[in-house]
Amino acid sequence: MERIARQLLAKCFGRPSGPLGRLGGRLMAHGNAATERHAVILAAPAEQDVVLVVGPGPGVGLAAAAERSAHVIGIEPSDVMLAMARRRCAPLIRRGRLRLSPGTAARTGQPDASVDVVISVNNLQLWPDVPAALAELHRVLRPGGRLLLSVREKWLPSGLSALAAMIHAAGFDTVRTWTWHPPTRMAPAAAQLSAIRTPRP
Ligand SMILES: C[S@@+](CC[C@H](N)C(=O)[O-])C[C@H]1O[C@@H](n2cnc3c(N)ncnc32)[C@H](O)[C@@H]1O
Repeated sequence: MERIARQLLAKCFGRPSGPLGRLGGRLMAHGNAATERHAVILAAPAEQDVVLVVGPGPGVGLAAAAERSAHVIGIEPSDVMLAMARRRCAPLIRRGRLRLSPGTAARTGQPDASVDVVISVNNLQLWPDVPAALAELHRVLRPGGRLLLSVREKWLPSGLSALAAMIHAAGFDTVRTWTWHPPTRMAPAAAQLSAIRTPRP
């Protein structure tokens, strides 16, 4: 029973697929919108920044990022989410401000030191190998580039300090952590972290 529930949740939210994935996408677009938009405000990309959004799901944060920056890339492993994000962001894609590609946090397909800002909301808990994913995000960020992670607090059982230690170990500094409470009624608290890829001396 528990295994079936886990499989249904994965189809809805983990790596959305089929009709359940489309339902999950609609629920996430509504329920996570405040956190997605808040993460973009915190990351504060400028018009010329290259922004990599990891696991954007239905694309609410992607759209917010591409309204601020002219060079946004969304990396997402689910075909259903790629299609939803493509529909939501169609005008921004047509204007050349956003492109979407299949990929994961550990395999972004981006060149070394090519990105100014990485944003990830509610997918860190799904990365099968967190150190490998952090190494990949470190590789694609330019020295001095910014990382912004947000994940539901309850999905981070080992806590923000353990995550901060992993981020340090991956070569980031100026690591800051805090908890954010979305203004939306019933929306769960988000554990958030910002860091900078250590600039060259
Ligand atoms: C819970 S949803 C969150 C979507 C969106 N960011 C939000 O907060 O509404 C998780 C998303 O991460 C994607 N995902 C799953 N595994 C991933 C991985 N290893 N790397 C990047 N994204 C992943 C899923 O396909 C899904 O779109």
